[in-house]
Amino acid sequence: MKKLILASAFALTLSLCAYAQVTVSGDRVSVNTENNSLIINARVGQAPGFLHFGARLSDADADALRFAGSRSLNAYPVYGQGEVREEAMEVTHGDGNMSLDLVVEGVSTDSAKDADIACITLKDKVYDFWVKLYYKAFRDVDMIEAWTEIINGEKKPVLLRKFDSAFLPVRTGDVWVSHLYGTWANEGRLVEEPLQRGMLRIENKDGVRNSHTSHAEIMLSLDGKPSENTGAVIGAALCYSGNYHIDIITNDSDYHRIFAGICADNSTLTLAPGESFRTPELALTYSDEGLSGASRNFHRWARAHKVAHGDRERKILLNSWEGVYFNINEPGMDQMMADIASMGGELFVMDDGWFGDKYPRLNDTSSLGDWVVDKNKLPNGIQGLVDAADRHGISFGIWIEPEMANTVSELYEKHPDWIINAAGRDVVKGRGGSQVILDMGNPAVQDFVFGIVDGLMTKYPRINYIKWDANMTVGSHGSSYLPADRQSELYIRYHQGLAAVCDRIRAKYPDLTIQACASGGGRANYGILPWFDEFWVSDNTDALQRIYMQWGTSYFFPSITMASHISAVPNHTVYRVTPLKFRIDVAMSGRLGMELQPKDMTPEEIAQCKQAIADYKSVRPVVQFGDIYRLVSPYDNLGIASLMYCSRDKSEAVFYWWRIENFYDSHPPRVKMAGLDPDRMYRVEELDKAPGRPLSFEGRSFSGSFLMNVGLEMPSGFSRELMGYSSRVLHLIAE
Ligand code: GLA
Repeated sequence: MKKLILASAFALTLSLCAYAQVTVSGDRVSVNTENNSLIINARVGQAPGFLHFGARLSDADADALRFAGSRSLNAYPVYGQGEVREEAMEVTHGDGNMSLDLVVEGVSTDSAKDADIACITLKDKVYDFWVKLYYKAFRDVDMIEAWTEIINGEKKPVLLRKFDSAFLPVRTGDVWVSHLYGTWANEGRLVEEPLQRGMLRIENKDGVRNSHTSHAEIMLSLDGKPSENTGAVIGAALCYSGNYHIDIITNDSDYHRIFAGICADNSTLTLAPGESFRTPELALTYSDEGLSGASRNFHRWARAHKVAHGDRERKILLNSWEGVYFNINEPGMDQMMADIASMGGELFVMDDGWFGDKYPRLNDTSSLGDWVVDKNKLPNGIQGLVDAADRHGISFGIWIEPEMANTVSELYEKHPDWIINAAGRDVVKGRGGSQVILDMGNPAVQDFVFGIVDGLMTKYPRINYIKWDANMTVGSHGSSYLPADRQSELYIRYHQGLAAVCDRIRAKYPDLTIQACASGGGRANYGILPWFDEFWVSDNTDALQRIYMQWGTSYFFPSITMASHISAVPNHTVYRVTPLKFRIDVAMSGRLGMELQPKDMTPEEIAQCKQAIADYKSVRPVVQFGDIYRLVSPYDNLGIASLMYCSRDKSEAVFYWWRIENFYDSHPPRVKMAGLDPDRMYRVEELDKAPGRPLSFEGRSFSGSFLMNVGLEMPSGFSRELMGYSSRVLHLIAE
């Protein structure tokens, strides 16, 4: 259903269901979810005015907004005519004119399967240049996606020098921002800071991956220092897999001015006459239940609309990487499959090292691009492994890194022009001293990359899971496919090409599970997740550091997306030794898996993992689809971290408690739970039970009210086995 409404014409209300609705009344456009409203003043002939984003407003209050004393800001400020601050768009017209003056031409509404959409069409007062502002309100979740479509109706090309997805003004006060930063092996670290005068720029220019060093998502706590379960919070996530920026500018105005979009540095875009460009979505949510409330909104939206198979339980897997690295061979793979099957696991993933003919992949110096099985390592090929998995009663998965090549490969010998590198310059090489990136903007490369997955899936349709890796940053800017005057489009074309390939893969293989890995957590973003089921949070599997990384990552991403594996000690990245129970209890808070050599485990350790896997299965729906309540932050230095998941109907919950600092005579706080029904009684059962005496509350029942207002006391004494890293996982079952 599509409707075109001249904004000043008449009042129309579209009420397609109880909540999510777009209402247009006079000049006022309200975009509503159950609890959120975004309100724009769209008077024809004038710049669009931003009136409100936050709590749901009734139509009467939305109409009264303009008398509430607040200033209307331009909802999409542009450069060159009147605007002297930062703006969302900068262009150069064909005649060299660098200014824009966009005014409302009309408003239309549309309804999709699960959402209602408002489109405010803007046109330059002089030039045949159009920008459509879209706002999509979901009916079942509190999320509004905003994006723009830019249309060049002029007779000459227009150069886009900045083209943000959206602009969001937020009233100043005691506003804090929470965002994620990090590096390889330390992704998703939380930083919280009050917004001060000046500009905070969060950006990524990796070219291929975008979440190692910073993340394209933020939360704004509007009522002062961020708090998990109280206070007003706005969350924003830019749904893009490539270079981005989020700028928060605080100057002499009453508003923090927030701009988010593709990072246009070295990335201008030319629109030929008649061409258009759609920017990635900026997903916006508001919650008055603190940071965890905003997280729950992100998680529900992600599972329902933004992650591949968001409603499907994730399998428990063993990945071969930390167990054998490149030492793949058939008996070894068979043994690992038998071991994970015997522990109750459901999937085995063979990682790097299985391919290469002329150049066998013995280490990371060669072979990417040559996706043929190494018959010396695997004489019966992939089929032999798929059959073995079948025999063990588990599924089979495989690692690929399809966007990459090594200069030592048959692919590179054949197609040296397929890589990204500046013409006439030394080839910049990455991992192993020979890795290079394929130019995904090139349609021939897209066919090749699609063909890697298609080839594997056609020959071995029982492959259930693909780990799709991407281990390189663009180090030399240049494409031999793009013409000279389009070189600046390299990054954007790369991600358009990647999306096109993913579309083809999903059209043909809708059921395949695909993990986004990128040297660990380089692809934790909502630009990639619509095609991917999950991401590898980090190459660092140390349980202690994972608590911090997974804590931050959970701000925006649900547990089903967070691949979280039990690994061996000393940890292969940081060499820390933590007890197996602690490692299990951390991994159990995400999508549980294992990443070690089972044959190096003792029978007791195998038995412990077997029990933990059975326990995880018993609560998997709560962990993977429940509502998160973060309780005690590891970043608050209280010696512990704690969070829980509650089923939507509050009939079950899983509570996690990890001791993260092990000083004698430290006294971590008693944790108050959240998210339970105060009036129901909950029976407590420990999962992954610690050896020794059962907990005093094992099998006992407490009211939700007691658990949330008083809480249970976790024993945290020292023992040789626990090395100070005690942890507890409790299952709460309503009676
Ligand atoms: C990357 C990934 C790892 C592993 C290796 C294989 O580093 O992050 O998990 O797959 O590649 O080479």
